[in-house]
Amino acid sequence: MTQTPSWWQTGTIYQIYPRSFMDGNGDGIGDIPGIISKLDYLRWLGVDAIWLSPIYPSPMADFGYDIADYIDVHPIFGKLSDMEQLIVEAHKRDLKVILDFVPNHTSDEHPWFQESRSSRDNPRRDWYMWHDPAPDGGPPNNWTSFFGGSAWQFDEQTGQYYLHMFDVKQPDLNWRNPDVREAMYNVLRFWLERGIDGFRVDVLWMLLKDEQLRDNPQRPGWKPGDPPYARQEGRYTEDQPGIHEIVREMRKTLDDFGERVFIGEIYLPIHRLMHYYGEMLDEAHLPFNFQFVTTPTWEARTIQSMVHEYEEALPEGAWPNWVLGNHDRPRVASRLGREQARVAQMLLLTLRGTPTCYYGDELGMQNVAIPPEMMHDPQGKDNPVNSRDPNRTPMQWDDTPNAGFSPAGVQTWLPIASDYQNNNVAAEQQDPCSFLTLTRTLLTLRRALPALSQGTYQTLDQDNANCFAFLREHEGARYLVVLNFADAEQIVKPLPAGQGRIILSTHLDREEDVDLAHLQLRAHEGCLIKLA
Ligand code: GLC
Repeated sequence: MTQTPSWWQTGTIYQIYPRSFMDGNGDGIGDIPGIISKLDYLRWLGVDAIWLSPIYPSPMADFGYDIADYIDVHPIFGKLSDMEQLIVEAHKRDLKVILDFVPNHTSDEHPWFQESRSSRDNPRRDWYMWHDPAPDGGPPNNWTSFFGGSAWQFDEQTGQYYLHMFDVKQPDLNWRNPDVREAMYNVLRFWLERGIDGFRVDVLWMLLKDEQLRDNPQRPGWKPGDPPYARQEGRYTEDQPGIHEIVREMRKTLDDFGERVFIGEIYLPIHRLMHYYGEMLDEAHLPFNFQFVTTPTWEARTIQSMVHEYEEALPEGAWPNWVLGNHDRPRVASRLGREQARVAQMLLLTLRGTPTCYYGDELGMQNVAIPPEMMHDPQGKDNPVNSRDPNRTPMQWDDTPNAGFSPAGVQTWLPIASDYQNNNVAAEQQDPCSFLTLTRTLLTLRRALPALSQGTYQTLDQDNANCFAFLREHEGARYLVVLNFADAEQIVKPLPAGQGRIILSTHLDREEDVDLAHLQLRAHEGCLIKLA
């Protein structure tokens, strides 16, 4: 890398799900004052930026991803002035603040939609996707919602259907309408003027839909009960021609304000994902790379080829990024088990590219089983197995009742994990071998060693199929990462000849010189090794 890297390249992003991070006013739901009270913790942890899932006024049909006003704050979370204070307090601590921007749809309670649905000739009619019924009176085509059922809702008042790719209360905006675009870019400007450092843009690859409304193909093998979003291929609802012009316009809006980051939520195969960097690198800075979130198998060779192929596919000058978990997918410690999740954490924080960490994953928080009657998530309405609530439970701060998230006696919006008395920030801060200590040590090393934050990446072939090894190098400093994906001891050879020094083991119990001709790793152990 020749230029001085930007903060969003060398830094680590931490995703906060505001409802579940810290309850500042004791109503059982997290809020912005709660987040402010934990900024020192985040600084201590060693992350560089926080990304907040939506904090805007919303009827909460999709927990804030259904926005009724883009330029205010939901009273549950606080006031606009709390948001302004959060920006100031975060910046004082050298933490950047990234907001979630949800451009694909509004809430049906947004005044724009209220106007749009009021009559066919309302000036805002064309701001949303209204279509006549099919000849049989049914929906205009076969498109299904990500949350199940048809993506079309009939509206009695005007006799047309509107499109909602998500909940019925989330009508899709019409991004072919230039007024919609301008209104949404003004939303970005509103927050940029208030000092927001960037945006994570929700379902960026879905903003345009086929103008001919052609049917989507069904995905082979899908059966009722499987996640509803996997039912159809998004051939005519995703990644449509014309999308890149919009992405460039968004980027331009951010660039007018200096060094701000543009992150895109995009679930696409790697070769198509790469287009979202832009031909001139003039689109998203970081099109989210979800390979580790979506992989059905967690096994050394699979992960090695994912990393390798991604590195090979990156356009010249494009910056990589990695994600292990988010508010939409099961927690990594539940998918892999807490022991292997430590290896995954070492992988995330030693690879080349910006890491994004989901709140609580630094502790090894796990999914929480939630009784169906306590479920909230619209994605779980057809089948509780698909609910995202289990990975959105309150942060575990300490061993007091309600885990220090809400005061004792308060009913929290989702239940607290039953293991909170052992797995919580306060306990793990005291434990030299805890998950949290591992995460913090990795973040400290990533900050201290330019080889980890900006060095080159090289896959190292070795003959043990349970292990993945790679090299990070910067200005002559060379670090080897060797990860054991198996539940048994492994011997890794041949690695580059010579001696190295283990500076960190995921078990946090050894720092020692090693002979690289014969490296022994314990079950679920990863090592960061400084090469002589
Ligand atoms: C994105 C969000 C998800 C939300 C959906 C609709 O995928 O991450 O939580 O339900 O968009 O906005």
